[in-house]
Amino acid sequence: MRELLVETGHPYTVHIGQHAIGLLSDRYRELLAQADRVVIIADSRVAELHLDKLLSELEEYHPLVFQVPAGEQAKSAASFMECHSFLLAENCSRNTVILAFGGGAVGDLAGFVASTFMRGVPFIQVPTTILAHDSAVGGKTAINHPLGKNMIGTFYQPQAVIYDSSFFDTLPDKEVRSGMAEVIKHAFISNEQWLEELLAIEDFGAMSESELSLHLEKGISVKAAIVEEDEFEGGVRKFLNFGHTLAHAIEAFLGYGKLTHGEAVVLGMAYALELSDSNRLNDFLKWAKDNGYPLGLLLELPFEALLPYMKKDKKSTAAALNFVLLGSIGRPYVEKVEEHQAQSAFNQLRITIKEMI
Ligand SMILES: NC(=O)c1ccc[n+]([C@@H]2O[C@H](COP(=O)([O-])OP(=O)(O)OC[C@H]3O[C@@H](n4cnc5c(N)ncnc54)[C@H](O)[C@@H]3O)[C@@H](O)[C@H]2O)c1
Ligand SMILES: [Zn+2]
Repeated sequence: MRELLVETGHPYTVHIGQHAIGLLSDRYRELLAQADRVVIIADSRVAELHLDKLLSELEEYHPLVFQVPAGEQAKSAASFMECHSFLLAENCSRNTVILAFGGGAVGDLAGFVASTFMRGVPFIQVPTTILAHDSAVGGKTAINHPLGKNMIGTFYQPQAVIYDSSFFDTLPDKEVRSGMAEVIKHAFISNEQWLEELLAIEDFGAMSESELSLHLEKGISVKAAIVEEDEFEGGVRKFLNFGHTLAHAIEAFLGYGKLTHGEAVVLGMAYALELSDSNRLNDFLKWAKDNGYPLGLLLELPFEALLPYMKKDKKSTAAALNFVLLGSIGRPYVEKVEEHQAQSAFNQLRITIKEMI
């Protein structure tokens, strides 16, 4: 089992490995035993697959379970209110502890519920996706507004992140791809040698459990270091948006859910590498192709349609586009890019992709 301390204003530990959930009846017994209620907010798909296993670790605390719709649907104002209604109906109090059980979506929702119920109750993240190595650490919570994703939320750190790799066995391939995209993003912005190791992977399915846990630990340590330095996103935390300006534009243009977040981020990172004039673009495209990311989609997306969304990006100002680019591996910076430059880099990337797929 690996563990890592996140030293934010309120420090907490991330535990990663097979049977990490065993810690709930061990290291976290005190926290859970003193709670008047232990409430699991669970993604319904994850509950169907893995709830029994989690419940068997929590028997002595007689937990209550509230299931929310699987995936992004969980992050609605309606399900936020339903969670609060459930907590109130069950006479929960400030001494209640909430567990988030599922991917980033349920983690964001349950974190927001925990941060607002009675002005804040403790919560533990029990993430079940690879992508959640990113979302479960850092303390951003959110639900979606019809006018924008993640528009309502708080900064609220969990008491612990219990990251049990045995849950990954049931992840669909596209969710593995989605999560691995954020892993390689963390490598791009931090460490060349680690990036080489990741680029050498031609088939995620062939990764061993311990290899994957090690990559997740590295990813979490990059995220944790950045969050520790900039908990409330005034500076370096922006670097975590490497690849995200175009990714968010693609997701918004296509409609959320058409492709996974990480698949969009891979397209966005390819574009950011093109804009950075990086010599790693071809290796990255090969890696993306081998691992089944939908590179061909870039040939179909009209730049003019994506541009307005990129202009709306939180990093951009009125007229200029701002991107996180790479000086070299591990050296991200934010750069203003003129529209015509953005257009020609997009065309160039399309030519390169067309030649290789
Ligand atoms: N708070 C942050 O800092 C942060 C950072 C990145 C992303 N996010 C958020 O995270 C969300 C994406 O998270 P995600 O990619 O984990 O997606 P997700 O939570 O939507 O889960 C993806 C799908 O996988 C299913 N699933 C989850 N675990 C499973 C398992 N073990 N086996 C089988 N199926 C499983 C879910 O039911 C869902 O259908 C987005 O809402 C995004 O905004 C937040
Ligand atoms: Zn992301």
